[in-house]
Order: sequence, then C-alpha cells, then structure tokens
Amino acid sequence: MKSKASARRATWLAFGLVALSALSVTAVETPVGTGVVAEEDVQQTMAAAGSLRTDDMDDSVQSIQDQNLEATRAYKYAMVVLNTLTAHQAQPTLDPLAAHRNTHSRSILSSFVPDINGPGPLASAMRILARLQNAIPSFSGSSNMGYFSTAARREYELSVKVMDLLQHSADLGSTDALYSIAQLSLFPPTEFFPLDPRLAYRTFSKHASITGNATSQAMIAFFHATGYHDVVPIDQAKAQLYYTFAANGGDKGAQMALAYRYWSGIGTVEDCQRAVVWYESASEQAMAKYLAGPPGGRTLPQTPTRLSDLVGGVYGPGASVASTGLNAQRPAIKAGIARNAGETWADVLEYYLFNADRGETDFAYRLGKIFYQGSIYVSPGGISSGSEGVGAVPRDYERARYYFLLIARQVWPRDPNPLHAAAANQMKEEGGPIGYAAAAAGYLGRMYLRGEGVKADMALAKMWFQRGADHGDRECHNGLGIMYREGLVPGAKADMKKALAHFTVAAGQELAEAQVHIGRYHFERGELAAATTYFEAAIRHGSPFEAYYYLGEIHSSQAAMPGLPAHVTSSSCAMAVSFHKLVTERGVWDDDLLREAEIAWMSGTDKGQEVAMLKWWIAAERGSEIAQNNLAYVLDQDRSVLRLTRFSPIIPSNDTARLALTQWTRAAGQRNIDALVKVGDYYYHGLGVPEESEQTRYEKAARYYQSAADTQISALAMWNLGWMYENGVGVPQDFHLAKRHYDLAHETNSEAYVPVLLSLMKLYARSAWHSLNGNPGGLNLWEDEEEDGE
Ligand SMILES: *[C@@H]1O[C@H](CO)[C@@H](O)[C@H](O)[C@H]1NC(C)=O
Ligand SMILES: *[C@@H]1O[C@H](CO)[C@@H](O)[C@H](O)[C@H]1NC(C)=O
Repeated sequence: MKSKASARRATWLAFGLVALSALSVTAVETPVGTGVVAEEDVQQTMAAAGSLRTDDMDDSVQSIQDQNLEATRAYKYAMVVLNTLTAHQAQPTLDPLAAHRNTHSRSILSSFVPDINGPGPLASAMRILARLQNAIPSFSGSSNMGYFSTAARREYELSVKVMDLLQHSADLGSTDALYSIAQLSLFPPTEFFPLDPRLAYRTFSKHASITGNATSQAMIAFFHATGYHDVVPIDQAKAQLYYTFAANGGDKGAQMALAYRYWSGIGTVEDCQRAVVWYESASEQAMAKYLAGPPGGRTLPQTPTRLSDLVGGVYGPGASVASTGLNAQRPAIKAGIARNAGETWADVLEYYLFNADRGETDFAYRLGKIFYQGSIYVSPGGISSGSEGVGAVPRDYERARYYFLLIARQVWPRDPNPLHAAAANQMKEEGGPIGYAAAAAGYLGRMYLRGEGVKADMALAKMWFQRGADHGDRECHNGLGIMYREGLVPGAKADMKKALAHFTVAAGQELAEAQVHIGRYHFERGELAAATTYFEAAIRHGSPFEAYYYLGEIHSSQAAMPGLPAHVTSSSCAMAVSFHKLVTERGVWDDDLLREAEIAWMSGTDKGQEVAMLKWWIAAERGSEIAQNNLAYVLDQDRSVLRLTRFSPIIPSNDTARLALTQWTRAAGQRNIDALVKVGDYYYHGLGVPEESEQTRYEKAARYYQSAADTQISALAMWNLGWMYENGVGVPQDFHLAKRHYDLAHETNSEAYVPVLLSLMKLYARSAWHSLNGNPGGLNLWEDEEEDGE
C-alpha cells in the first residue's frame, strides 16, 4: 500500500515539475494575467512561427517542433488540473428535498456519497486533488486572497493556473487551448473561473477563423442570434449565416438550430423542406451514435425535466394544464408532489430496501430496475425505453445485478457447467415466483449481452435469455432475437428467421422494442407500409427513439416525392420534422445541455444559475420546448419580483421580460398551453410587449386566452376569459359568455371549483345589479343557462 502511495506521489511531483517549467516560461514570455487572451500575442507568435521558416531551415523546424511540444504539454497539464478541480464537485440531482439530505434520512444516500478512502472514480479524484494540493507547494498566488479558506484559495489559484497554462499554450499556437479558453470563459466550471462572455466571443471567433471549427461557428451564431450579454448586437442575418456554416461543417447543435429556424420562421422565411433536411442530418448523427452502442443500442440519456412541473406547472397544481387530468400522472408532477409531502428518494429507496430485505420479491425487482435505470421513474415501453431524469439516482449495475440474481436464483439456483451444455436442459428447476424470475433473467441476460457491470459474455447472455424465454418473458425473447440477428449466439450463425420468430413473440406482448425490430426488418426490405404499421405500434407502446427515426425517414422521403399533391407533401414534411426533431432532442449523449443545466441550476450559486440559463438558452435556440419553458420560467417576472432584482444586473429588466415573452411564445408554438396562457398574461400586464394602447393589449390578451381555451384543456384560460367578459376588458361585456366560460372552467378542472364558485356568485350579484338598473343582457337567475347547446 505504502509504496503504491509514494509511487503516485512521485508521479504528481513529476507533473508538478512539468508545470513549473511551463509556468516559468509563461512568466518570462508574457505578463501573466488572469486568463485574458491578448489577441496580439497569438498573432505575434503565429507570425514569428511563420517568419522562422525563412531562416535556417533545420533550426526553425526544430524550434517549431519544440514549440508544438511545449504547447501540447501546457495544454495537457491544464486539462489534468481542470479535471481534478471539477471531478470532486458533487453532482446534485432533482431529488426532492435534496437540500435536507445532510440532516435527514442519510442512511441510504450516504452509501452513495463517496467515501474519500473508498473505491470509485469520485473518491479517487478527491484523493488526487488532495495530493495535487500537497505535491505542488510552489503554486503560490497573490496575497490579497487572505479572506478565503485555504482550500478555496488553493482552488482559486489552480483555476488561475489553468487559464494561464491554456493562455500560454494558445500563445504557442495550440488551437485546442484556444477552444478551451473560450469554453471555460462562457461556462465557468467552478465558482473560481471568471465568466467572461466577451473573451469567449473573441476566442471562439479566433478559433473559428484559424480552424474553421463548426462548434465555434455555432457559438458565434448564438451570440448574434441572442445578443447575449450585449457582446454583439442582435443580428439574425449574421446568426443565420454562421449557423449555416456550422451546420454544413457538421455541428449537430447548429443543424438543429438552423432546422428550427426554418421550421418556425425565425430570422428567415418558414420553409419546411429546408427544416427537414437539417433535422435529418442532425437525426442521422444521433442515430449513428445510438447504433454505435452495445447490441440493442446505446443507453438513452434520461429525459430532461420541465422545472415548472415540479411545482405542478407554471400556474401551480390544478390551474396548470401540466397537472390537469391525465397529466397529473406524469413523473415530474408526481415527484413535485412527493417533494411537497417531504418525501425524499432516500425514503423511497429505504422503503424498498426494507421490504426487499424481508424477501418481498416485487420490491427486490423494483430496486433492481431502479439501480439498473438510474431512476425512480422508468419510462413505459420496456427496458430499452430509458428513464426519467426527474427521478435520477446514481446508476449502479452491481446492485441491480445483486437484486436480479436474488430473484432469479430462487428458480435457477445453479448455472450449468458450460462444458456440459446438454446437461443444462435437464437441470431441474425449483419452484418460485416465475414471473419475476423470468423478468430478472431478462435484465441479467441484457447485462451480459451489453457488458453492463460485468464483462460481456454471450454464453451467459444466451443462458439467461433462454431461461426467461422458456417462460414466455418478452424481454428475453427480444434479447434472443437481437442475438440471432447479430450472429452473437455462440456457435451459431446470424439467423434472421429465428430472430424474427423471437421478435414476433415479444411484439405480440406489446414490447415496443421488438415491434421496432420487426419494423426495421420490413423497412430495410423496402416494405414501407408494413414497416409503418410496426413503427406506429411501437410508438403507441412507448418506443422513445428508433421508431421516430424510421418514421421520420419514411415521411421525409414521401415529402420529397415528385407528383404528390401539395397538401400530402406538406403534411408529410410536418410529420418528418416532428419525428426527426424528437430524435435529435432525445439523442444527446455528448451534448446533453438540459441535464447539464439542471445540475448547474441545482448548485444554487449565482454563477451556476447563470450557466444554467445560458445552457437552456442555447438549447432553446436549438428548438427544445423544455429549454424554452425552463428559461422563461426562471426569468418570469410575473411570478416573482425577487428574480427580477436578482437577475436585473445581468440583463436589464425590460430585456428580461422580452426574453421571457419570446421563450413563452416559442414554447406556446410547440403546443405548451400553459405557455400560451402566459403570453396572454404578458400582454394583459404589458410585460415585455411593444408599446401600444391598453385597449389593444387587452384585446390581444383575450385572443391568446381564447386560443388556449379553444384547446379545451386549460381551465385557467377559460376562467380568465370569463373574467374578461364579466368586466368587459378586451372583449365586450357579456354576462352570458362570462358564465359559459366559468362553467367550462369548472367542467375542465374541478380543482378550479373554488375560484369559479366565487366568481359565479360575484357574477350573479353584478348581473342582478345590472338588471335592476334597467340594463338588458342580465343573467336569468331562475332558469338554467345551458339552453343554447354546446
Ligand atoms: C471543434 O473543436 C473542438 C476542440 O478541438 C472539438 O472538440 C470539436 O469536436 C470540434 N467540432 C467539430 C464539429 O469538429
Ligand atoms: C421598461 O419599459 C417601460 C415602458 O415600456 C419604461 O417606462 C421603463 O423605463 C423601462 N425600464 C427600463 C429599465 O428600461
């Protein structure tokens, strides 16, 4: 043990020496700032590198090589330090009452929190950080940091060093360092990195012009599209231009943003055909990543969360469409209710563990599922459909395997000796709850097939799938189907016939993934009608990804088909857009902005929240409705004056309102009905809207409420309209229509009952007063008002 530790220390010392040499060069060559890029420096270095070529050739080649080597060294070392700085940061989840974790119910979650002496990547990162701090005593910073704690001061100094090293490397011509400087100044990874959008913009521009890198071009486009921090004025033409460069260069985010702009007519005329072309490119990238995963496809990222869902929707439970009717069953709404009831994930897990440890098989099974999926809430549609980010717990294949084995061993206490395969079939099975055991076998087979928490082993995968399939389990049949299709069954060739037979059994039990597999078989043979039937069934049964991709492909080829009537091609185009859009937004393995934003937001620090808003904003520009909703929700002035003052130093308040209104409007355009009511509210209150007369604003507000009410799911919109008719605001006063809308509100959502009842009482009183004064149009109090039909 001891010698290992000292060897590691020696490694760190060596790193420290490399850093020192790099730093001393920095100190000699350039005045060390706190990470400000001096454009001239890079240009001079580049020019110097160029002019050297005219001198003695051997020397200059040698010195360019030295320079490159040093640039690479400085860059690599900066990355090592950066990783140690960020790796130990806790990853908060949207766990209800997460803030109380330290005082309440530690028992379960404490086992997830890394012990610094324990195993695991987090713990070893913490050890490394501790070592790093001890091993490089020569890192000394300015003395005016005395008010920080020692650890914080060290972190601050290390962040300055990271920026200095990167700067040095960039000066020596490293474009990777340039790119990192830009990223770090826009998304400070810790509190101690400065947020500097101007530096970010300049550096992205430089990086883009040197390398033509599409990701940097996409960021420049974002600055022009949004006017973020007033670095550059809003200029949609420039944004369009840079998004087009970046999209052509293969940046998936830029392709999504460009497609969304064509689809909704932002900065350009609406053009579905162009939108679908770009959505298709982005969707193909996502699909390629999916297929590059283990057999059965890469594990899907968890679904992002609409922040407002955690409080029952932007108008709270009952009044929001988000929590009305069937929507009340959605995981995010349930998670919010659990939070209000004071329940934590730790409580949930503890309850499951309590029961599982007492031999309750169903609880053991649920625990296995939770640990396998890394979430309390599993999406419908089978194992491969993924899970909901709102219930995220640390994914733990070891524990999942433990519980699945616990269940499966009740039926299959031993595994056969692989050398005597024939004996396996005769092995006697013991009694036990077959249903759960077969389902557990499906998970175990899948883990061996995909190498999840175990070494991939096709023989064991086949064994577990076969065991479950013998009892008719659909996931096991699906797993066998995959193995036969891909030729993964040991000792057998790929066999599509057998594969299809297994898929058909599973599809018959409404397993979405199996339906996708059969659909794909027909799709590849050009049997599009049959394929469509299977893909549509898969979507009905909860397929979250692949089926949308293939249906998108089918519709987009239909939209491009010559000779079809315009209404057919345009509806095919619209479908292709919505399917491909969904694939691009779900398939975010290495650019999961929404998840990153959630984590940054939950950090609770000002810088974290600024980063979160920026990430939502970027995703919103790419067309994500959830990001649009989240950004508008946190900016929403109407909801909380506190937020207004909190963020006003960053964005002037009228700009905040305008930005929020833009995002509500875009979310409303994507069928977010609560957002549509919000747009009405903004007009009603004159928030972020163009200067116009009160009368015009009220009329517009009434029109937004009307279109929200027309969907027949927003009680609040109906109630608002009722109020406007009652009071003659934005619409002519009309007590009959007022009562009709109040009644509709009541019918739509009985939780709106109390406000409706109060309004109705007031309405009757007013109407009576109105009639007593001899005006026509009062309500008849003695007869039912429903005579004129629906
Ligand atoms: C742009 O450069 C960065 C850093 O070198 C790289 O990670 C990224 O993949 C590049 N983008 C594209 C689209 O090639
Ligand atoms: C916001 O707009 C209102 C009216 O449009 C104006 O009176 C007010 O001064 C503006 N506030 C700021 C901070 O610009």
